[in-house]
Amino acid sequence: MAIILGIESSCDETSAAICIDGEIRSNIIANQLVHQHYGGVVPELASRAHQQNIIPAIQEAFSVAKISKNEVDAVAFTRGPGLLGSLLVGTSFAKAFALAKNIPLMEVNHMQAHILAHFIQDPKPNFPFLCLTVSGGHTQIVKVNDYFDMEIVGETLDDAAGEAFDKSAKILGLPYPGGPLIDQYAQSGSAEAYSFPEPQIPGLDFSFSGLKTSILYFVQKNVKADPDFIQKNLPDICASIQQRIISILLSKLKRAAAEYQINQIAIAGGVSANSGLRNALQEMAEKKGWQVFIPKFEYCTDNAAMIAIAGYHKFLKKDFVDQSIAPLARMAF
Ligand code: KG4
Ligand code: ZN
Repeated sequence: MAIILGIESSCDETSAAICIDGEIRSNIIANQLVHQHYGGVVPELASRAHQQNIIPAIQEAFSVAKISKNEVDAVAFTRGPGLLGSLLVGTSFAKAFALAKNIPLMEVNHMQAHILAHFIQDPKPNFPFLCLTVSGGHTQIVKVNDYFDMEIVGETLDDAAGEAFDKSAKILGLPYPGGPLIDQYAQSGSAEAYSFPEPQIPGLDFSFSGLKTSILYFVQKNVKADPDFIQKNLPDICASIQQRIISILLSKLKRAAAEYQINQIAIAGGVSANSGLRNALQEMAEKKGWQVFIPKFEYCTDNAAMIAIAGYHKFLKKDFVDQSIAPLARMAF
């Protein structure tokens, strides 16, 4: 039997999870509401909040999983990429715990873990599959050859898809993080109401900065003509913005599937919680004959269950690190 403690602290969620023989028994996520006042994550405040949240999150993860700290076989933690001060909290805790209990330590790449969240539940994809990973900091199409053998075949040249959602929301005066709010308003709006340009980027790469600028100009122009423009048309504006972000993502995904002749397609990361993207992907799958893998909501945004499952697969390979390990703000696959 293998009991893994997973710890995630890369950005603004402090999370702890217990995985027993590949099955998630607890996944505790402490959100940091402090950032809402600032319109984005404030790194210094994030590290302090991790310090406050980490012990209660760990305690609860043990209590929900009904196991004791002495039963843990190994600890997995997010080494990067992320905010260094935030990563340091989870890394230091994991190292101290492993040292105190004399158990192995496993480093996990946060972006790989988002993809490995697909191995928490059935149905699980077979290798190789393609994964569109869309979060607040990344937008990538990844060819997943094995648990820890992944190739980035396309990525954003500027903003991430999550940033495109959050920055658009900010232009509309919505609080941070605006992605989920755009999703919510879009549900009662018309996606055909307004048309935003599609960037012409060759290959499998993405670009969202032009879209952000065109939304800014569009809003400024219309608010000048009618100061209540946003208020009167919020659902339609959100639906149109969301539609364009989705069409940019799916057109590249379609291209990647054709290029690599792969029809097992997954999505991962915070933006994969977007209901419009989930529906559009299902529709495209039916048209193209793809088998799609869409994570449960709680495994889309940052969580330690994905770190624990990645750790479980490292544990099976005895892929351990020693106490000299340090977190990395930038971390390649
Ligand atoms: O993966 P994640 O939790 O954190 C990072 O690793 O970045 O992703 C956070 C991003 C934010 O930009 C947030 O606005 C976006 O995911 N997001 C959404 C939705 N839920 C979260 N974007 C659009 N629609 C949603 N429902
Ligand atoms: Zn993430």
